[in-house]
Amino acid sequence: MKKLFIIANWKSNKTIQEAEKWLHDFAEILKSDNPNIENKEIIVCSSFTLFEHVNYCSANLKLPIKFGAQNISPFDKGAYTGEVFGAQIKEFAQYVIIGHSERRQNFFENNEMLFKKVLMAKKYNLIPIFCIQNEETSVPEGIDIIAYEPPTAIGTGNPDTPENAQRVARLVSEKTKAQHVIYGGSVTSSNVRTFTDTPNINGLLVGGASLDPLEFLEIIKNA
Ligand code: PGA
Repeated sequence: MKKLFIIANWKSNKTIQEAEKWLHDFAEILKSDNPNIENKEIIVCSSFTLFEHVNYCSANLKLPIKFGAQNISPFDKGAYTGEVFGAQIKEFAQYVIIGHSERRQNFFENNEMLFKKVLMAKKYNLIPIFCIQNEETSVPEGIDIIAYEPPTAIGTGNPDTPENAQRVARLVSEKTKAQHVIYGGSVTSSNVRTFTDTPNINGLLVGGASLDPLEFLEIIKNA
């Protein structure tokens, strides 16, 4: 059985109360369904404001979940108003999403900045989940997990075809030293298997469908 990364990208959603409810609901369904998740690494990427509380609740509920950030400062600690630097993230998370197309588009993050973010992640022992939009996207050295996310598939209900996602995943695995290529873009519990059944796709980055704990658990079960 191949190892699968199933990553929830909550984006800019959920208050502390809503996140707590998600974790409790998730724990309840997990307990009653008791699916086999042996080969699955479940990661939730929340807003920074939720970090402390989701860590606390997850430990209390004994959830098999790891946490990730959705962003990292390209700088070390210091006078960078509004930024959250690597050591602050490492207190709560093990992973960090870097290079998501929403950040490239809305916050004008370019390769130079993204490469700096990767260096900062590595300095603080955070594992970057580096997003690419197609097989041409530049990938910095030393990336282990690449998320292929075609922008036309993100939040549109219009996922890439498994054939094309597999083609890109294969090309990217050949071109880079990444151990894992995952797919993201309109993943749901009904289409998840078509992606994880392909040889080069090792997991999913799930946005909208991860906001509902029931649907997210269905994705985990069906993957
Ligand atoms: P989506 O988002 O699942 O809502 O399409 C995926 C992502 O942006 O990571």
